[in-house]
Amino acid sequence: MASISLVLTICVLGFYVPAPSLASPSHGNDFLRCLSTDVPGQLVQTPSSPSFKQLLVSSIRNARFVAPATARPPICIVTPTNASHVQAAVRCGRRHGVRVRVRSGGHDCEGLSYRSGRRDSEAFAVIDLAELHAIGVNPHEAPAWVDAGARIGELYYHVATAAPGLGFPAGMCPTIGGGGHFSGGGMGLMMRKYGLSADNVLDATMVDAQGNLLADKKAMGDDLFWAIRGGGGGNFGIVLSWKVRLVPVPPTVTFVKVARTMEQGAVDSVTKWQTLAPALPDDLSVRVVVQNGEANFQALYLGNSSAVVTTMGSRFPELRVTIADCKEMSWLQYTAYIFFGDAINSKPLEALLLNRSMPLGQFVKNNPTTSRKHSPRRRGRRSSAGPMVPPRGSSSWSRTAE
Ligand SMILES: *[C@@H]1O[C@H](CO)[C@@H](O)[C@H](O)[C@H]1NC(C)=O
Ligand SMILES: *[C@@H]1O[C@H](CO)[C@@H](O)[C@H](O)[C@H]1NC(C)=O
Ligand SMILES: *[C@@H]1O[C@H](CO)[C@@H](O)[C@H](O)[C@H]1NC(C)=O
Repeated sequence: MASISLVLTICVLGFYVPAPSLASPSHGNDFLRCLSTDVPGQLVQTPSSPSFKQLLVSSIRNARFVAPATARPPICIVTPTNASHVQAAVRCGRRHGVRVRVRSGGHDCEGLSYRSGRRDSEAFAVIDLAELHAIGVNPHEAPAWVDAGARIGELYYHVATAAPGLGFPAGMCPTIGGGGHFSGGGMGLMMRKYGLSADNVLDATMVDAQGNLLADKKAMGDDLFWAIRGGGGGNFGIVLSWKVRLVPVPPTVTFVKVARTMEQGAVDSVTKWQTLAPALPDDLSVRVVVQNGEANFQALYLGNSSAVVTTMGSRFPELRVTIADCKEMSWLQYTAYIFFGDAINSKPLEALLLNRSMPLGQFVKNNPTTSRKHSPRRRGRRSSAGPMVPPRGSSSWSRTAE
């Protein structure tokens, strides 16, 4: 299956402060002493703090990383409430040779934002931005500010309630943190019309690798501002806040779901989808989740169901989409429905999108692979794969955060 292209849910946030040497326990103590001069004690938790473990696992959604993460925990977890705490953590890390990993408090399926990721027992510290989760939206105004520790579900909710008629193009998991997500791109089902989240970043505030606070893109310079929009979480510094461009969404959108088993022609449908999906109208995105021999097509259409049935009927007749496969809803309902499914009928959207405590989730291995080639039709192998989304106007897919 070498040429099968998968774009999987990744949200990777690992930030390396260049470490001159491996930190020893004494480095760790020096690091903690350094922190204590600028960061209030209650914002620094060490493994001996009573709620340390709870905090460490708070954004682990991949059960396979719980044991490794708790067996080799960070020296401490810093939970900044303002920029100066982030600066202090970066500066102390540099001074005392302690690597800093950063997470936004959202999910991280590969566990890179809270583990050392190295085979040796390197000492490291975690900066957890979950407390920095303010969102500023003005009614009718396209720019909004969102702090790195806000999850995209919270952003969706605040945008839709404060500025009806506007939305934001980002991923399909409301549990992902904006810090890592936008840094890595930010793919979702509105990207064909509006691009990635990173394409809609207008400005940002960040702390650079020296611990300097860069208040806006002018302070960053063009190259750094370019790099943080797609270059990956934490690789160029720690983004604290994004200024984003909101986009218009219609009052009604339509979500379409069609499943095809192998017997029902899943292979032919996926093969066809690869050529037609990139050429669909911009208002329509179709992704496919291939799993256990079944292809699950999911589409978002920025319009009503009768229009999408007509469009799918002419562009992708093999899928035989009918009104029964469609659900009309608001854009905000869609952001919850694609992740929580029918739970949106029994629970208020607030309980789903604003809930900051996450269930642990399953043992999973996400294996992001990329291909620039069209995958040929092949029969007879059942594969377990993940969601695939083609970018606009192209059949080559890239690895990015979803
Ligand atoms: C950040 O918090 C510290 C307390 O830890 C406080 O002294 C400082 O004034 C705060 N800075 C800002 C910019 O709010
Ligand atoms: C559905 O959308 C189409 C195209 O935008 C429009 O012409 C039609 O009136 C709409 N139908 C309903 C029932 O809203
Ligand atoms: C929030 O999510 C947690 C974990 O899934 C769950 O136990 C809790 O009941 C949820 N809270 C609400 C208000 O739904």
